[in-house]
Amino acid sequence: MEFSLTDIISICDFSKKDIDIVLEKAAEFEKMPVEKKAGILNGKIVASLFFEPSTRTRLSFETAIQNLGGKVIGFADPAASSTSKGETLSDSIKIISGYADIIVMRHFIEGSARRASEVSKKPIINAGDGANQHPTQTLLDLYTIKKEFGKISGLKIGLLGDLKYGRTVHSLMYALAHYPNTEVFCISPESLRMQQEIIQDNSEKLKIFETRDLQEFLPELDLLYATRIQKERFADEFEYEQIKNVFILDKKILEKTKKSFRIMHPLPRVNEIKPELDSTSAALYFEQAKNGLPVRKAILSILKDVEK
Ligand code: CP
Repeated sequence: MEFSLTDIISICDFSKKDIDIVLEKAAEFEKMPVEKKAGILNGKIVASLFFEPSTRTRLSFETAIQNLGGKVIGFADPAASSTSKGETLSDSIKIISGYADIIVMRHFIEGSARRASEVSKKPIINAGDGANQHPTQTLLDLYTIKKEFGKISGLKIGLLGDLKYGRTVHSLMYALAHYPNTEVFCISPESLRMQQEIIQDNSEKLKIFETRDLQEFLPELDLLYATRIQKERFADEFEYEQIKNVFILDKKILEKTKKSFRIMHPLPRVNEIKPELDSTSAALYFEQAKNGLPVRKAILSILKDVEK
């Protein structure tokens, strides 16, 4: 099977076959002892450029690179780079693509990863661009769902919280459209509804419902994908304060859900999931974060020799 992409910018660029290749490779990496794959990135340098804060994405990529024998250059804080002196993103990427074999980049501007891919001689991996896309998160989400439920097609999946600014749910919605008979329940306050363009783009392939009431569909759901209200995307802090605790999941919700019901969250959480849920069988979010490692190893191994 051949992977069709030279950059990982948007999940919308992926065919079903591309997704399958990543998920199958990730399963291989998860089963293999670390030392068996240790040489895959030997002699390769990966630039890790984080213009926005990150714990999971940056550290799982950097762990994956080191486990595979590669070396990491880059920054976790753009203040330490020449961006702070006014260098444009395009110039930075042109220069860094002369040093590194792959560039992993998180940036606060929507479309920045696409722009970077246009000027880079080396593959760009979008580690999140503003409120737009987070494709590697989606690949690890799909991997987690498939591993837990044995399938993705036909599941009833609730997306909860900030569906307007949450890039993980935007990417996930497009990805789920590859899986027939999947039903998606968009549960959010009115002001944080899923963008209508995203709903329209996927409405032929997915059954999509919208509600403000978490209780309405709870007993039907196989999975609830909760998200943080994205404080950093609000122009008005007062508006954020008004809405920040709109959905808080606690053990009481389990009285209404199926036994096999699971909760995912890209993390970090703020108040959306009470710690009392962590020890229940519904909590899949820590396992989900752990799955970032084999999935990101798979992505790096696929892109390591790409010629653009
Ligand atoms: N899920 C996710 O993107 O987490 P970080 O912001 O910590 O990378």
